[in-house]
Amino acid sequence: MQAVILAGGFGTRLRPLTYTRSKVLLPILNKPMIAYIIESLPENVERVIIAANYKKEQLEEFFDRNDFGKEIIINEEPKPLGTGGAVKFAEKYIEDRFLVLNSDIISSLDMKDMIRFHVNREAFVTISLWPVENVSEFGVVRIEDDGRITQFVEKPKPEDAPSNLINAGAYCMEKEALDYIESADRLISMEQEVFPRIIEDGKRFYGYKIEGFWIDVGRINSYIEVNKILLRRQGKRFLIGSNCEIRGDLENSSVGNNVEIGEESKVSSSVILDNAKIGKDVQIENSVIGEGCVIGDRAKIINSVIGDEEEIEEDKIVKDERIWTKPIPKGYPDKQIGNVIKV
Ligand code: GTP
Repeated sequence: MQAVILAGGFGTRLRPLTYTRSKVLLPILNKPMIAYIIESLPENVERVIIAANYKKEQLEEFFDRNDFGKEIIINEEPKPLGTGGAVKFAEKYIEDRFLVLNSDIISSLDMKDMIRFHVNREAFVTISLWPVENVSEFGVVRIEDDGRITQFVEKPKPEDAPSNLINAGAYCMEKEALDYIESADRLISMEQEVFPRIIEDGKRFYGYKIEGFWIDVGRINSYIEVNKILLRRQGKRFLIGSNCEIRGDLENSSVGNNVEIGEESKVSSSVILDNAKIGKDVQIENSVIGEGCVIGDRAKIINSVIGDEEEIEEDKIVKDERIWTKPIPKGYPDKQIGNVIKV
């Protein structure tokens, strides 16, 4: 089997962290997001096609350095093609039944069981589903008792919602489903164009409910949250990478490698990336500190993101801000394009 991992998005909601890196290489508890996805693939997935575009050199470098015991193909799109276009563009590497995975979802999905479900129902497409409370922020599905999906309803009012189940960003598809995506030369959304077309055509389209946890790591809050959730699952209050000098207190936080944190400093519900130098008596709360940042003594950083290699002066208070003082990469869009799940 093959798996296509969608990893070409700009990750605009995670800026400025994504000005300098591919979203999928952002570490969660010091391990890049994409490693979680690849490690959760069933053994019989032998080939992984990474649908890449923005910052694809970083992905090439990452896979040159890390061996996951599977064939990895980095398939660079000439331009962002959206979630449907990117899958069509991978067609030449797809031989039979295949998986499609968003690279920014961390969940307890049992892919082997989802494939079994798909095969037992002789499905054409099976998508993973996750229940939410706030249906009006998502596309939800209309689903029969046997799991067959008959309709997608975009952002319904709660009283009109046919279910509380949303597309959770992992699909199992028969190769022939690629025929429903016309040429790979324009932005095509799998969710908004391709899936409705397959359902309209009467194909066997099923939904598989995820049990356990599911988190879309697309936003800063959810990025911080996923670190906390995984810490909790490991029964830890914090994680510290290698070669760090930590003199302050940490709570519900993850710290990368080669980080220094001075005396009397307090870090809570935050993520500190590699090589950051944090002074004395600094308070960091619900924030992300980028790689190589220098934070002066007594600074307070609350609900904020500090981009890589930025410097924050002593005594400075940063609240509800995203700090980035360098040029924005050429071609980086103002807002989300080719999206799947918006919150
Ligand atoms: P935002 O800009 O913050 O919405 O992030 P994003 O660009 O990653 O978009 P979104 O979260 O909606 O994308 C969901 C998944 O699809 C992610 O894994 C993206 O990497 C991927 N993706 C989105 N658009 C494209 C695209 O045009 N090409 C490829 N190859 N992947 C894409």
